[in-house]
Amino acid sequence: MEFITLNTGAKMPLEGFGVFQIPDAEECEDVVYNAIKTGYRLLDTAAAYMNEEALGKAVARAIADGLTTREELFITTKVWVSDMKNEDTAYEAVKISLAKLNLPYVDLVLLHQPMGDYFAAYRGITKAYREGLTKAIGVANFYPAILTNFCKFVEVTPAVNQVEIHPFFVQQGAIENMKSLGVAPQAWGPLAEGKHGIFTDPELVAIGEKYGKSAAQVVLRWNAQRGVSIIPKSVHVNRMEQNIDIWDFSLTDEEMTTIAAKDLGHSEIVDHSDPNFVNFIINM
Ligand SMILES: NC(=O)c1ccc[n+]([C@@H]2O[C@H](COP(=O)([O-])OP(=O)(O)OC[C@H]3O[C@@H](n4cnc5c(N)ncnc54)[C@H](OP(=O)(O)O)[C@@H]3O)[C@@H](O)[C@H]2O)c1
Repeated sequence: MEFITLNTGAKMPLEGFGVFQIPDAEECEDVVYNAIKTGYRLLDTAAAYMNEEALGKAVARAIADGLTTREELFITTKVWVSDMKNEDTAYEAVKISLAKLNLPYVDLVLLHQPMGDYFAAYRGITKAYREGLTKAIGVANFYPAILTNFCKFVEVTPAVNQVEIHPFFVQQGAIENMKSLGVAPQAWGPLAEGKHGIFTDPELVAIGEKYGKSAAQVVLRWNAQRGVSIIPKSVHVNRMEQNIDIWDFSLTDEEMTTIAAKDLGHSEIVDHSDPNFVNFIINM
C-alpha cells in the first residue's frame, strides 16, 4: 500500500474501501470486517449512508480479533446537507457520527455536498477538528470554482476533496486545481459504479491481460498512479481482494494516456450543476 501525506502532515492510504449502498446493518458489519481482513485500512462512510453503527461494530470486532489497530485505520465520515444549516448543527453532527461509530475520534470529516450553508458548516467541523474529534477536515463534490473560492475564505484548508473520478470522468483540470490549493484529490465511484461497460471495455481488458489483471484493477491503478486516492466498494470478498491487488504493476505512459482518452468530460452518475439535482438533495 502506498500513502499520501495530507496538508495536516498525516499519512492517508492511497486506497481505501467505500461503504455506500450497504444499508443492511448485519451485511455491512460483515462486509467491513472482511474488508479489514483483506487488508483495507481506509474506510469511507457517511451519516447519509446509514451504516456508521455497523462500520463501528466491524472496526471494534476487527481490533478485538487482532486484525488491526485503531492507529492503523483511517476512518472517514461525512456531514449530510440536512446538518449543514449552521455551525452548531454541523458540529453536533460530528458528535452524533462519533457516537454511532462508537469512536472518540475519526481521521477525516468531510462536508458531503457544497450545499446548505457550507461555510458555516465548515466552521462547525473546524471546531470539531480543533477539539480533536477528527484528525482532518475536508469537502466532497466541491467543483473547481467553488473549491477555489472556498479555500480563500476558510481558516483551515480542506485536506481532501472527494469527487467522482474514473476513466469516463477524468477531471484532470479539477485534480490540478486541487493540488495547486494543497487539497488531496480522492475518487469516489472509481469503478464508475460499474457503468459504461467499464469491466468489459476491450481496451481496459487488453491492457489488463498484459499484466494478468482485470479491467477493474487497471482503472484503480490508473487513478492511484496519477496520485488520486481511490475508495472502491464491493460486498464480495473476491472483488475486495482483486481491487486491492494493484500495487505490483505499473501502467506505461501510453497506457495512462489511452485510459484518460475515454473521458466524456461529464458525469453519467450525478450532475452537480443541475438545479433539479440540488433540489432533490436539499429536500431529502
Ligand atoms: N462523496 C460522495 O458524494 C460519494 C458518492 C458516491 C460514493 N462515494 C464513496 O465512494 C465509494 C465508492 O463509490 P461507489 O460505491 O459509488 O462505486 P464504485 O466503487 O465505483 O463501484 C461499486 C460497484 O462496482 C462493483 N464492483 C466492485 N468491484 C468490482 C470488480 N472487481 N468487478 C466487478 N464489479 C465490481 C460493486 O458491486 P458489488 O458490491 O456487488 O461487488 C458495485 O456495484 C462509495 O462506497 C462511497 O464510500 C462518495
